[in-house]
Amino acid sequence: MFDRAAETYDNVGVDLFRPVADLLLTELAPQPGEHALDVGCGRGAVLFPLARALGPTGRAVGIDLAPRMVAATAADAAVAGLDVDVRVDDAQEPALDEAPFDLIASSLVLFFLPDPATALTAWRALLAPGGRVGISTFADHSPAWRVVDAVFAPYLPQQMADPRTQAAASPFGSDEGVEALFRGAGFTDVRTVSTTLPVRFEDKDQWYAWTWSVGQRRMWESVPEEHHAAVRAAAYERLDDCLDDDGRIGFDQGIRLTLATR
Ligand SMILES: C[S@@+](CC[C@H](N)C(=O)[O-])C[C@H]1O[C@@H](n2cnc3c(N)ncnc32)[C@H](O)[C@@H]1O
Repeated sequence: MFDRAAETYDNVGVDLFRPVADLLLTELAPQPGEHALDVGCGRGAVLFPLARALGPTGRAVGIDLAPRMVAATAADAAVAGLDVDVRVDDAQEPALDEAPFDLIASSLVLFFLPDPATALTAWRALLAPGGRVGISTFADHSPAWRVVDAVFAPYLPQQMADPRTQAAASPFGSDEGVEALFRGAGFTDVRTVSTTLPVRFEDKDQWYAWTWSVGQRRMWESVPEEHHAAVRAAAYERLDDCLDDDGRIGFDQGIRLTLATR
């Protein structure tokens, strides 16, 4: 799915992934000369500022499962003159031979993995002693926005978890749940930093384009073609009830950063 979204991912004029990446990097504090890994690098929201922070004496490696995401990000890096190593690899079981890393970042990825606990154990093994890891995941978003998401509900397979609205039973439903995953994998100094970011759209069509460019694309792909127009119309009607104080369409997204040390 992310392979199909690669061209437009983080590229339709809605700023969410870069602000999240900035918050994560502020906490991880990459230093010049360090060796760092970005797991699930997407289109480089973390990887590019990370590489700049590490400087010419450091080394940034980005991995992603989606080949087109990797190809587009490698091309963007070349255009930006950034010397980063971007390659296809599985976050669940990374096959990297450049360990140890001083730090591992992973923004909005861990909840997509089939076995996040096993992935964290594998990431810990890639870190040098004292190395830092930091991830971002979604916390709650504006309750009013749920009526928009609800237009997809009749079509979603039961096992399709929405990472923005994790069930209470999921480890991603609370700070403690995510922290427990880290402790279970052997990390220490586990802590959470929480914040909220505004997600706003110029108009309804921008919302529509955005939903196809991000993980929510899976929801559209679950709606039979002949129902698309009706679902889109239902969503557009509901967007009228989701305006901020300035009359802009959007919602506020809770962001959870989980930080730890090997
Ligand atoms: C929501 S995007 C986040 C991308 C980027 N970190 C950012 O903040 O913009 C999730 C990314 O995780 C990647 N991904 C999903 N499952 C993966 C896996 N098993 N191994 C590596 N990457 C994976 C997707 O291809 C996608 O690029």
